[in-house]
Amino acid sequence: MNEIKLFSPATVANVSCGFDVLGFCLDSIGDEMVIRKTVEKGIRITKIEGYDLPFEVEKNVAGVSALAMYEAAKPDCGFEIEIYKHIKPGSGVGSSSASAVGSVYGMNVLLGNPYSKTELTAFAMKGEAVASQSEHADNIAPALFGGFTLVKSLEPLEVLQIPTPSDLFAVVIHPQIEIKTSDARKILPEHISLKNAITQWSNVGSLIHGLHTNDYDLISRSLKDVVVEPFRSQLIPGFEDIKKAALENGALGTGISGSGPSVFSLCKSDSTAEKVEKAIRETYQNQHIPFEIYVSKINLDGIKLLNEN
Ligand code: HSE
Repeated sequence: MNEIKLFSPATVANVSCGFDVLGFCLDSIGDEMVIRKTVEKGIRITKIEGYDLPFEVEKNVAGVSALAMYEAAKPDCGFEIEIYKHIKPGSGVGSSSASAVGSVYGMNVLLGNPYSKTELTAFAMKGEAVASQSEHADNIAPALFGGFTLVKSLEPLEVLQIPTPSDLFAVVIHPQIEIKTSDARKILPEHISLKNAITQWSNVGSLIHGLHTNDYDLISRSLKDVVVEPFRSQLIPGFEDIKKAALENGALGTGISGSGPSVFSLCKSDSTAEKVEKAIRETYQNQHIPFEIYVSKINLDGIKLLNEN
């Protein structure tokens, strides 16, 4: 096998209370990439379609993660990367991590899978850091593992897979404005109050318990963020209107997807998700900002091969 095509999915990081540690994988949006083995050594990005991104390997998140793995593996071949980008950079649904994950996952398959998903997470984090100027894996881990993931620690890197209740659906609205993750991180406070810390870690614990026990009410009561959302929501026009429309129409909870501007809602059942999608769509038309909105199952598989030659 010398060439593979793959689908690298979008993801929702933070999931309200779990800043930098929690995430889940979407299934209706993602990038496609082709990874090809070459006789000539080194990493080359040969095609980028969809968005204007750098071809220089050292400046491209897919290139940087590929280089990190290449330098560790020292293979007797090189790789070409083609990127068919569908996830808009700066949209808040893991655009950079989809690229970062795609290159290392593809190279790993072509090399006979020498690395575990946790090791691939570590390589992909090097690429993600180019985009966000900080190392975190809360988008990368769900893209690689699928479902819900909790990044328990970075040193040593430990990723936990959390069960996904079967009737859980996500609604994601993407207002067409760009928020750079690096900017959205700069506005966060260095310190938080003990009171807020207690509320936040209580919600993380209970959200994980709710996911393990299929307790949708507990999931709903846990999808709250008193640490990050009060700051970042100010960057998203109409955030409170989206949240109100979603909760009034039965969403379990609504929060900022990653660093925004996308906003996610989790819903029990596809019919509730459709109702929430319609309500948000109607409300957001008043903002006069173009937007995309979609309903997605939770993608339990994560990144996947589309074909191999
Ligand atoms: N946890 C990250 C953040 C996700 O919210 O800044 C975006 O990369």
